[in-house]
Order: sequence, then structure tokens, then C-alpha cells
Amino acid sequence: MADDTSIFIGASRKPDDSYQRAEELLLRYGNRHGLITGATGTGKTVSLQVLAEGFSNAGVPVFCADIKGDLSGIALMGEAKDFLVKRAEQVKLDPYQFQEFPVIFWDLFGEQGHPIRATISEMGPLLMSRLMNLSEAQEGVMNIAFRIADEEGLLLLDLKDLQALLANIADRADQLSARYGNVTKPSVGAIQRTLLVLEQQGAANFFGEPALRIADLIRTTRDGRGAVSVLAADKLMMNPRLYATFLLWLMSELFEELPEVGDLDQPKLVFFFDEAHLLFEDAPKVLVDRVEQVVRLIRSKGVGVYFVTQNPLDIPEKVLAQLGNRVQHALRAYTPREQQAVRTAAETFRPNPDFDCATAITQLATGEALVSMLEDKGVPAMVQRTLIRPPSSRLGPITPDERRKIISESPVAGQYDQAVDRESAFEILQKKTKEAQDAEAQAQQAGSGGSRWTIPGFDDVLGTSGRRSSNRQTVAEAAIKSVVRSVGSSVGRAIVRGILGSLARGR
Ligand SMILES: Nc1ncnc2c1ncn2[C@@H]1O[C@H](COP(=O)(O)OP(=O)(O)OP(=O)(O)O)[C@@H](O)[C@H]1O
Ligand SMILES: [Mg+2]
Repeated sequence: MADDTSIFIGASRKPDDSYQRAEELLLRYGNRHGLITGATGTGKTVSLQVLAEGFSNAGVPVFCADIKGDLSGIALMGEAKDFLVKRAEQVKLDPYQFQEFPVIFWDLFGEQGHPIRATISEMGPLLMSRLMNLSEAQEGVMNIAFRIADEEGLLLLDLKDLQALLANIADRADQLSARYGNVTKPSVGAIQRTLLVLEQQGAANFFGEPALRIADLIRTTRDGRGAVSVLAADKLMMNPRLYATFLLWLMSELFEELPEVGDLDQPKLVFFFDEAHLLFEDAPKVLVDRVEQVVRLIRSKGVGVYFVTQNPLDIPEKVLAQLGNRVQHALRAYTPREQQAVRTAAETFRPNPDFDCATAITQLATGEALVSMLEDKGVPAMVQRTLIRPPSSRLGPITPDERRKIISESPVAGQYDQAVDRESAFEILQKKTKEAQDAEAQAQQAGSGGSRWTIPGFDDVLGTSGRRSSNRQTVAEAAIKSVVRSVGSSVGRAIVRGILGSLARGR
């Protein structure tokens, strides 16, 4: 049914509910983004699973978050359950074949998948501030902290690096204020306390090395199928801000690392963003604007972004306007507010004279949806009432044993499992403090007078010990390594740092 230019997603129905035609997503418009919406239990996850299967079979790697664990079944072969076989008949999916998919499990906490890590330096001040929900003044201090780290060659890898840097900044707040603007001890202290909370929430696992290599997300198998990266997000969802910030970071990393390719026959990667409302919930306008920009620009890198959420109104209009391939499952319409949401959702479709969109949205069965995919010239097709095909892989979660087996056989097994803690800001600042103390002790012993001042841990004017210069070298080396690692050679990255970096400054 589906050839290699499209993904079969289901069958649309005539007004008398008989079979009408196959509905397909055209792979060449797979990078024009998409949207899957609907109330709880209406079939969003299964629709996501069906799309992910289709992309993988076409050789397109997929990244998706698994909020409830029920997407993990995509790693294993489906079974011929009655209701699935019946659905396959209804949509004329013949033969209905079962299949398992090449899944790589990931987990920010390293429990249900390979650990995913990023460094603080990579995350940048904007996303860190968002993650920590900082006030504007605190965000200003965070920007200064990153600037100081850049200028002084301090690598920020993990949370303790940032803690050490902040402590150091607090110590010399007056001096720094003169140079960079307002850096007050209370605002630094407030950030330090927020960092502690973040640590208690388990975020410490996430920050550090080895950091995720984007290349590991765009793998294909020897038989030409795209890897399906499944992020275990059940625990992560308890910290929605970390979840949203992480996915935002991932999206910007993809944008930075992948070259400009224009429109291809099929995407290079497809990214599913479940619970997408979290990305925009009480996000400052600047951030929403930048997300809009990244979504718009990432298309020409061959990346398709598919938002999954309950209601299309959860997504800001400017972002919504860019989501070309739409699957709208049922919505409830009991309260006036719900009714309004249904009307608005209906208005986003190109109408079909055969039925009233708003009425249909409230009547859709489970696993049925209003579907409008982009067709020729990238124009949205007239909306159709569509029964979604059943998945080929397992419906529902896999067992912990099955998961363990898949993790141990994964192509990245052993590459991320062990955290590495190389010399970075924390260690360097510790050394410097010690050196400054030693030097002071020496000076006091020598009893020499003169103007001598130390700034604990920083640019001290004391001593001419060779130790310090060797320390400098280490810092410089580390800085170079950091730049090479995080900047790479792509021009795209510079643009992206611009997009996200310019946020706070624009305020
Ligand atoms: N295309 C389909 N074919 C067969 N059964 C389906 C299909 N879509 C959904 N179902 C049935 O409906 C159930 C609920 O679907 P699903 O888990 O996708 O809902 P959901 O919208 O993701 O819900 P939630 O918001 O709670 O996560 C599935 O477990 C399955 O039994
Ligand atoms: Mg679901």
C-alpha cells in the first residue's frame, strides 16, 4: 500500500461510513512538520507509533519521547489481536504484517535507557535560565557568568562547575559589577539555591560528559531502516521544565549540527514532541519567538518536528501555522470553553463539504481522526475523516526484561553508560583558590609589605610560580577542547548560538 514515497496512515470514510481512499503522508513533505492532537485516550500515541514505524521503514531516523511507557512496544513485534486485525480489514491494510523496529532507548536518568547528557556550556545561559525559572535580573547574572566562563577559559560541564563559578562570582561581585553591570550577592545566591533544587530533582545526572552525539540519533540499520530513539520520559515528566528545556536543547543542537540541505525526497530525521504544551507554558515571548524561528529554519536541515498535544490551542499560532501534516483525534465539548476549542480546531482545516468539521471532532471514535496531509505543491489536503491503521509493532509497553535486553544489544551500548569527570571549572577554581591561599601564606611568612591583594580563586596578582602558568595552560587547553567539541566546523552552529544566545540580550 505505502510505496517508498509515502507512509500509509489509514483510510478515509465516505459520508455513509464506507471505505473511501487511503490516506498517506508524503515523505517529501515530511520535513514540513506536523501535529497530532486529541483528548486523552483518543489514539494520539498509536498515531505517533504508526507514523514512527512508517518513517523508520522509509529509512528516516526518529526521535520521540515516551511519556507513559506505552510507546516502548514499538521495539517488539505486534500480535494479531482481534480488534487490530479488524481495524486492518477496515482500512484495507492487506497483508497486515507484524514487525519490530530498531529502537535505542534513552533516559536522562540512565535507568530505562542509555544516559543522555549535555554540558552546561552547550546548554547556554538562555536555556539554563529557563530551566531554573530565573527572574530577569538573575538571568542577567547568568549571562555574565557564561561570559566570564568564556573569557577565562572555564569549562562548564556539570552542575558543580556552575556552582563553583557562581561561588567565585559572589566572592568578587563588586569587581565584576564595575566591569559587567549589576552582579549582586543576593542574586547570585538566589541562583545558587535554585541550582541546589535542580540537583535534588536529579538533574545532576543530565549535566556532564560524555555528552550526546547527535550522530547517534541519526543512525540507520544495515537493512536501511531508520533508528527509533525512544526517550523514557515518565520520570522526566515530574520535572516538566527539565523535559521541555531538554527537548528544546535537542532541537537547537540538531539545527546547529546538521547542514543545510533544502527540500529532500524524505527527511533526515523526524522529531516527535509529546506533551508539547509544556514547551510553551508560561514561556516568555522571546523564547516562543525563538522556538518559532528554529521550527521554521530546521525544515531546510531536513528535520521534521511533530508536536503531540491535547488541543491545537496549546500551540502558539505562529508555530501552529507551520505544522503542515495534521491528525486531529476527538475532543470533548461539554463546557463552553471546550466548545470554543473545538470550533477553533475545526477552523484550522481546509473544509470538506461532506461533513461539518466541528461536529465530527466531537464524534470521532478511538483511533479515528480528522486528517489533512500536505499534498502536491505542499498545499494542505481537504480534511478527511480517517480510521488510523493499526501498528505493526506491539501495542503497549514492553517488560523491564525485554527493555534490558534491547539496551544491552544497542549500537551505543557502553558508550554513554559511564560518566566521565574531566578537569573543568570546579577543579580549576579549586586549584586557583588553593594557590592563592598558598601564595598568601608564603607572602605572610616572608613578611613582605607592599600592596598585595588577592581575589580568591581568580586572576590573582600574586606570585610568579611556575605552577600557575602550567595551570593556565590546562585552562587554555581545556578551553580549546571545549570550543572544538562544541563548535565543530559547521557554520550553522554559529547561527543557532545567535538565535538562542541573542534572546536575553534582546530583552
Ligand atoms: N489506530 C488504532 N488502531 C487500533 N486501536 C487503536 C488505534 N488507536 C488507538 N487505539 C486504541 O485506543 C487505545 C488508546 O489509544 P492511545 O494510547 O493512542 O491514546 P492517547 O490519545 O495517546 O491517550 P493519552 O492521552 O492518555 O496518552 C489504544 O491502547 C488502543 O487500544
Ligand atoms: Mg498517549
